[in-house]
Amino acid sequence: MNIVCYGLQWGDEGKGKVTTYLSREFDYVVRYSGGSNAGHTVNYGEFKLVHHLVPSFDIRGNTKAYIANGVVVDLDVLIKEIEEIKKIGFDVYDRINISSLTHIVLPVHKMLDEKLEIAKGEKAVGTTKRGIGPAYADKVHRIGLRLVDLFDKETALEKLKFISKMYKNLYGIEWDDYEILFENFEKLSKLIVPPLEMKEEFKNVNVLFEGTQGVLLDIDMGSYPYVTGSYCNTTGVESGLGFPIKIDKRIGVFKAYVTRVGEGPFPTELFGEEAEKIRIAGREFGATTGRPRRCGWLDLPILRYAIETSGCDEMIMTKADILSGLEKVKVGIRYLSNGRKFEIPNDISMIDKVTVEYIEFNGWKNLEDDNFAKFVDFIERETGLKIAYISTGEKIDDIRKV
Ligand code: IMO
Ligand code: MG
Repeated sequence: MNIVCYGLQWGDEGKGKVTTYLSREFDYVVRYSGGSNAGHTVNYGEFKLVHHLVPSFDIRGNTKAYIANGVVVDLDVLIKEIEEIKKIGFDVYDRINISSLTHIVLPVHKMLDEKLEIAKGEKAVGTTKRGIGPAYADKVHRIGLRLVDLFDKETALEKLKFISKMYKNLYGIEWDDYEILFENFEKLSKLIVPPLEMKEEFKNVNVLFEGTQGVLLDIDMGSYPYVTGSYCNTTGVESGLGFPIKIDKRIGVFKAYVTRVGEGPFPTELFGEEAEKIRIAGREFGATTGRPRRCGWLDLPILRYAIETSGCDEMIMTKADILSGLEKVKVGIRYLSNGRKFEIPNDISMIDKVTVEYIEFNGWKNLEDDNFAKFVDFIERETGLKIAYISTGEKIDDIRKV
């Protein structure tokens, strides 16, 4: 049984915690897109982990992990993360494999990410500055460096010098300090495998694909240009793997409200005190950059759009506990645009010009409250999908099957 667990909003839906919980039933957790822009905080109770590149598998169990070639890897970040886990007492080195075709995020990518954002001025995307966009761009420019290139130092040096020359000529960015890259490669070389080896391996095991970001940050189907550089939608699984695979179920994760980091449209956004209340209660600060996340009410048109776009089979709701104690909880149910009503945006680019119609719910004291059950029923009815699990708190096991 192969499942994809992914985000139905603008990222940070709680995918990391949920994936870790589900991972115990799987042989592998696979990352198929994104890079160290992802920030998944997983609270094990006795310790907390923040994953950027290590897939969200339960480090206490036997599940293995694979980083497929749809991911762009910052070797430094990956090694530091594995070493952090080792400090806690778990050696996960031999439980991780990485595709040999994976592109490497280089220091020049981070420098260019920063420079592009400055050059864009008020049109800046608000990226995580982790070099994600430039690394994917170089893949497409066909000047990227892949893990497989590092097995032959001489060829790798030749490629690196060429990249340096390109960056100097095109962007005025200078970099020629390659040694750390080779040192990092030494530490990881045993983990690198050709994709077809994994194809064979995946024939007889259960695989959980872990989404990063969310459908609305997908390079094509998201709120372009305020998106990330990869196919973080479920459609990215096969391209990220490099070979077809049968997916049995697509489980979308959504928050009971909405957050977004960085720029771009956000129809149900809250400001001032109302936003601050949710931000503080939900600890809505970026796990990667520490930036305060923008907060707003649950947006059903957007959720329906993400469900349709990703082929969602069932959903998991997170962070409804954060709203406990509010007198009223609102949900955006449809958009108004040019005198017309939309239950779902016909084109995602319309969302920066819409007015939102809301429905108001009586708040709940806790998740056992009838008012909360009404909220859940309403979302299921409005989306036509079952909410299979509800996360009830921060820790991995704070979750109930519905
Ligand atoms: P997880 O996996 C939330 C956002 C950035 C920015 C835009 C582009 O934790 O859900 P990038 O650095 O990718 O070029 O930035 O995408 N972004 C995220 N927002 N959660 C994430 O990951 C994100 N990864 C990127 O804030 O708006
Ligand atoms: Mg996150």
